[in-house]
Amino acid sequence: MNANPKDLFPEDIDLSTPVTDTTAMATETTLLNPRFYTTDFDEMDKIDVTPVRADWDKLIGQMKSDPNKGHFKKNAEWDADWDGMDPKLKREFIDFLVSSCTAEFSGCVLYKEMKRRGANPDICELFGLMARDEARHAGFINDALREAGVAVNLGFLTKAKKYTYFRPKFIYYATYLSEKIGYARYITIFRHLERHPEQRFHPIFKWFREWCNDEFSHGEAFALIMKTDPKLTTSFVNKLYIKFFLTAVYMTMWVRDHARPEFHKALNVDIDWYDQEVFRITSEISLQIFPMELDIQHKRWRPNLDRMNRAFIAMDAAKRRGGIGGKLAGWVAAASAARTFVALYSIPAIKHDLPASVRLEPTY
Ligand SMILES: [Fe+2]
Ligand SMILES: [Fe+2]
Repeated sequence: MNANPKDLFPEDIDLSTPVTDTTAMATETTLLNPRFYTTDFDEMDKIDVTPVRADWDKLIGQMKSDPNKGHFKKNAEWDADWDGMDPKLKREFIDFLVSSCTAEFSGCVLYKEMKRRGANPDICELFGLMARDEARHAGFINDALREAGVAVNLGFLTKAKKYTYFRPKFIYYATYLSEKIGYARYITIFRHLERHPEQRFHPIFKWFREWCNDEFSHGEAFALIMKTDPKLTTSFVNKLYIKFFLTAVYMTMWVRDHARPEFHKALNVDIDWYDQEVFRITSEISLQIFPMELDIQHKRWRPNLDRMNRAFIAMDAAKRRGGIGGKLAGWVAAASAARTFVALYSIPAIKHDLPASVRLEPTY
């Protein structure tokens, strides 16, 4: 991967921030932290969008019209007050922003690399447009972080972060889901704060509505890509993979969100409610292309998510304890996490027929 950070930021985003602890946070590779991906770009370059041409052209037209061109700029609405923030909240909020910035930037790097390596005009055009959006998103978050005296050195991150290789079809499942769950997360917080503006402790939330429409469009693009090859969502084995990614993505979000109690308290959001609501929206949307949804009302769903959370807390404590005792405790906790994942995965999914038309509009 040779992404040059300067190419990633055509719009004048400062990459000169020194390497800080925040960058170290973003560089760390754990099961839960957002990852950087690489894939077989040649195979992706062969995607033929002919079967979805009408929908494709419409979507690309929308993206090219660039409705959010002027959106990611601070204006009079920006009233950040880092000094008045409770220190515990500040720590969790910074963690939230760093992880969001890393996730946005991870998309940017992957999309930009596909555009750079490809020769297929449809694919290159799409990935160029998506990289444009993700660069804006990551840059905007980083700008907010800089006001708190920290920032992620994104140029450093492209070199220092480990890249995980995923076959193209896994990129489609994982990226489609992360775009749609990203949409659902942003819009659910935005709608909540629309009802309770007094809980909005930082102005960045005011930017979430237009922002999440970008993520929605990115998700639409991956839905269309999957639609070009029906096997991707209908074969027996691929259905198992889809269920795997749904389970892994939902479970990761649950554990990550539950590690930020102060952040959610400040927003006055019940984490269990919020996560279930985001799962519900994501499941509803993803029926556009996935032939199943996870049964998030199943009696084994929530208890196993809580069990998974406890296993991750135990793994973290074991890591901090170190030594032989820590190692042993870490193995026990990891085994419990693995068992719990199997328990979640084995909950029967709710099957659905695929709709004839894929395209959706953001309506939440
Ligand atoms: Fe984004
Ligand atoms: Fe996105």
